Order: sequence, then structure tokens, then C-alpha cells
Amino acid sequence: MAIKLNVNGKVMEADVDPDTPLLWTLRDALGITGPKFGCGVAQCGACTVHIDGEAVRSCSLPVSAAEGKQIVTIEGLAAGSTLHKVQKAWIDHDVPQCGYCQAGMIMAVAALLKDKPKPTDADINDTITNICRCGTFQQVRAAIHAAANA
Ligand code: FES
Ligand code: FES
Repeated sequence: MAIKLNVNGKVMEADVDPDTPLLWTLRDALGITGPKFGCGVAQCGACTVHIDGEAVRSCSLPVSAAEGKQIVTIEGLAAGSTLHKVQKAWIDHDVPQCGYCQAGMIMAVAALLKDKPKPTDADINDTITNICRCGTFQQVRAAIHAAANA
């Protein structure tokens, strides 16, 4: 049975089992490949998307739980050709290295700044628990503060 999802402002139908993780529905059924597979057990954050504005690790959420909600992936974060302030700060601070974790990292940070426009280092430590194998954590922190002051 097809499941209807609202992704990046568009209604889409995915022919998947309701228990399929949202990540695989996005990537395999809908061809939206910004969210990445890292661990599959809600630990690394590579798969982070927004659901109704909250950062969610999509590898561990059944797609049925996202039905009727607003799903936003990195592909939908910019407003048309205007980048989100987190994306701009990421470019200014040359944050990405291999890039694999970065879509999830940016989505997690965008949700943090919506909740806490001026996060402290402690807020960042508590909230941005995404794992980056390239060790971009210092650039991530600098770019978060820059985006908060943009
Ligand atoms: S792939 Fe989802 S948290 Fe690691
Ligand atoms: S930039 Fe390579 S894993 Fe984070």
C-alpha cells in the first residue's frame, strides 16, 4: 500500500511497508539521497532530517510515523536559491571534509538554532551529538556560532 508523505513541500507516494525506516523510504523509494546511512541505530546522526521542525534520526523511525507530517531534508533546507544561514556559515568556515556526515550535521544544527538562536558551547555539546569521522568538530562549533550571529 502506498504511503503518502510530504517531503520538502511536495506530496509524494512511496510503495513501502509501513515499518520501513524513513531513511530507506527517502533514499530508495523516493530518490532523496541527502540523508545518509551511517550506523542505522540512531547513534551517528548522518540520517538526520526535520519532521515538523524537529531533528529526527530517520534510520530509526518507521515511515508510518512520518505520515501526515512535514518532512524536510537537506535538499529542502534552502529557500529556493537562498541558502539557509547554517549552509552559508558552513561554506564560510570550510566545514566539510569528506562530506558524508554533513547533511545530517547541518540539519541537526538548523533545528538547534530554531530552538536556541544563540546556543552556548554546552548547548552544542548536548544537542549536536552527530559523529564526524573526519573530525570537523571545531569547524562545526565555529560555524554554529557564526550562523547564530548572522
Ligand atoms: S544512520 Fe541514523 S543515526 Fe546513524
Ligand atoms: S566530513 Fe567526513 S565524516 Fe564528517
